[in-house]
Amino acid sequence: MPDTFSDSDVDDLQENDLSRIGVSLPSNLLSSFDQILKTRGYSSRSEGIRDAIRSYIRYYKWMADMTGPRQGVITIVYDHHQRGLIASITDIQHDYMEVIQASLHSHVSHSRCVEVLLVKGDAKEVKEVAERLMAQKGVETVKLTTIPLEG
Ligand code: NI
Repeated sequence: MPDTFSDSDVDDLQENDLSRIGVSLPSNLLSSFDQILKTRGYSSRSEGIRDAIRSYIRYYKWMADMTGPRQGVITIVYDHHQRGLIASITDIQHDYMEVIQASLHSHVSHSRCVEVLLVKGDAKEVKEVAERLMAQKGVETVKLTTIPLEG
């Protein structure tokens, strides 16, 4: 198992049968997604959505496989104008003060902030911190990189 998540991991999903789904999305989310598809040269939205879902599944499988004592870094990008978000992020960090060793904050633009958290603890707790941050409205991205502590 790799220590950092990579989009180039081998895809082992069975993809013979196609199912059609209808999805409702906020228009700004869809336009951001379409912009990425255009930049990356996707021929269709369906192809882009399939790739996005594959990445999501691989990421969660990777998260599920991560076990034992770990040192790591969580990078979070968020919109500080989102109502209540800064308070929620601070609350989460206080809930995991035994896991979070240090944090670094930088104001990226008028509305965006980046925060880097140095974490150390059992993989389960480290993942919990990342997942709780991911679940907050106004959080753009959360990246988790870890190193096993044994050896
Ligand atoms: Ni800031």
